[in-house]
Amino acid sequence: MPCNMKSTALLLSLCAAARVLSLLQPWHGRPRVLRLDLQRNRIADPVAHDKLRRRSGTVDGTLDNMQTLYYLNISMGTPPQDLRMHVDTGSSDLWVNTPRSAVCSQSSQPCVSSGTYTANESSTYEYVGSYFNISYVDGSGAAGDYVTDTLHVDGHDFAGFQFGIGYDSSSPQSVLGIGYPVNEVQVARSGLKAYQNMPARMAADGVIASSAYSLWLNDLDANTGSILFGGVDASRYSGDLVSVPIQQVGGTFLEFFITMTGLDMGSVAVAQGMALAVLLDSGSSLTYLPNDLTESVYDAVNASYQEVDGVAFVPCSLRDSDATMSFRFSSPAAVEVLVRDMILDLDDATGKALTFDNGVQACLFGISPAGTSTSVLGDTFLRSAYVVYDMANNEIALAQARFNASEPDVHEIGGGGSPVPSAVAAKTPVAAASGLPVGGSAGDGNQSGQDQNSGGGVLVPPVLLTGVLVGIVSFVV
Ligand SMILES: *[C@@H]1O[C@H](CO)[C@@H](O)[C@H](O)[C@H]1NC(C)=O
Ligand SMILES: *[C@@H]1O[C@H](CO)[C@@H](O)[C@H](O)[C@H]1NC(C)=O
Ligand SMILES: *[C@@H]1O[C@H](CO)[C@@H](O)[C@H](O)[C@H]1NC(C)=O
Ligand SMILES: *[C@@H]1O[C@H](CO)[C@@H](O)[C@H](O)[C@H]1NC(C)=O
Ligand SMILES: *[C@@H]1O[C@H](CO)[C@@H](O)[C@H](O)[C@H]1NC(C)=O
Ligand SMILES: *[C@@H]1O[C@H](CO)[C@@H](O)[C@H](O)[C@H]1NC(C)=O
Repeated sequence: MPCNMKSTALLLSLCAAARVLSLLQPWHGRPRVLRLDLQRNRIADPVAHDKLRRRSGTVDGTLDNMQTLYYLNISMGTPPQDLRMHVDTGSSDLWVNTPRSAVCSQSSQPCVSSGTYTANESSTYEYVGSYFNISYVDGSGAAGDYVTDTLHVDGHDFAGFQFGIGYDSSSPQSVLGIGYPVNEVQVARSGLKAYQNMPARMAADGVIASSAYSLWLNDLDANTGSILFGGVDASRYSGDLVSVPIQQVGGTFLEFFITMTGLDMGSVAVAQGMALAVLLDSGSSLTYLPNDLTESVYDAVNASYQEVDGVAFVPCSLRDSDATMSFRFSSPAAVEVLVRDMILDLDDATGKALTFDNGVQACLFGISPAGTSTSVLGDTFLRSAYVVYDMANNEIALAQARFNASEPDVHEIGGGGSPVPSAVAAKTPVAAASGLPVGGSAGDGNQSGQDQNSGGGVLVPPVLLTGVLVGIVSFVV
């Protein structure tokens, strides 16, 4: 348990929570769960991050000084090499950087903060094949070997764990993809069988009873959240946890798509009766909704759309508002997001605060138009939600996140297809009628799935409000 980091009050309570957890001794023994702290880093430019990222839906782009959003610590090999991994529910492979790659050997040493892995320095390393390749449509990405080594996570060792090494990488961020194994690149690109990725391996080894985990990102002011593999922490949400079915892509449970049925701004329904597939993606900083829906939201909050950057701005003073928006899924699943939690700071290239032409300070709004791409509920939505990703039952359970809990109340998600504890199923689940990617197989190489739909990351901007901003010369890249 990494409890020796920055001693914010919140962190202390998380660490205290972890100790309480390890003391829990229910009658059937300790719950088979594994809780890890997540840390949030400010990123220089979430917009550029998402744009690059969405080219492939799997990895980050090349941005100097870019810090990833939510990460956790693991180590790999014998002796262990420490690694900081970007947690991504939108991909399924773990891959690491290596010091000799072109990106990591730059004089600015961009990989130092996230750590690197050197195969030759591990006595338990074994080579699998040279077909690891996650790539962007523009040809950048990470490629190299698939290998196995001993993965160490919070005191647990997973020998012979398969992952990728980015000998040829364009991102200093190593990625921990925790999606469905069938979405691994070796399946899509090489037609091979899926290997056990981290959640699958934890379940196979009995560290957790079921391939499922809960993600609690915490609120915008906090820099730590947590991921609980194999369990649910009832102290971290309020109201009911409602389960809805994951939507298949071409007949396969491939990615975390669920059906969004409506959106309210305050008490006004700006959309209802929808059956829109939306992707729950912790690796996306912003939320991307269909253009017309985005426009309605912008109208409601008086946001100014900046076509050249594909994003909208609002006066930072909107943070004082108590306005809410409600994202609706198969009833009664719904998550309320405070409009103020949709508002992010963004500086211009010189580090100055952005202003509108009337001098009013401008902040980035957390929803952008999806254009021709898939709709994505990213971190601006996910922070307000408690989300259980249950791959064993192909369900997502959602509740309103609770930020002020102190005593954890952890329940194991049992094996053998046991449902998520306390979750109530949506009464009449709505099947997605639009928004799903075309094609049945994953991965960027095959131009299918999310990637094909992402269309090279090109947003087709709708004609929206035309507020003029000064100060945006270019983003920090
Ligand atoms: C990861 O490890 C680093 C270095 O020990 C530490 O500073 C950081 O707080 C850790 N982060 C998490 C999320 O545990
Ligand atoms: C390991 O070291 C050997 C000998 O120095 C070298 O030929 C080989 O390329 C190295 N392998 C890796 C994966 O770095
Ligand atoms: C990885 O795949 C991309 C796209 O298919 C290709 O252009 C690139 O050459 C591949 N990289 C390696 C090292 O094989
Ligand atoms: C891409 O997917 C199609 C079917 O979806 C399959 O027939 C083809 O072999 C795949 N190509 C590669 C390179 O994996
Ligand atoms: C909307 O924002 C513009 C500036 O961007 C401002 O001039 C206008 O008064 C605002 N309207 C409302 C209703 O807040
Ligand atoms: C947590 O916050 C909610 C509403 O924000 C409040 O109703 C509740 O009493 C708080 N609980 C604790 C333990 O502080």
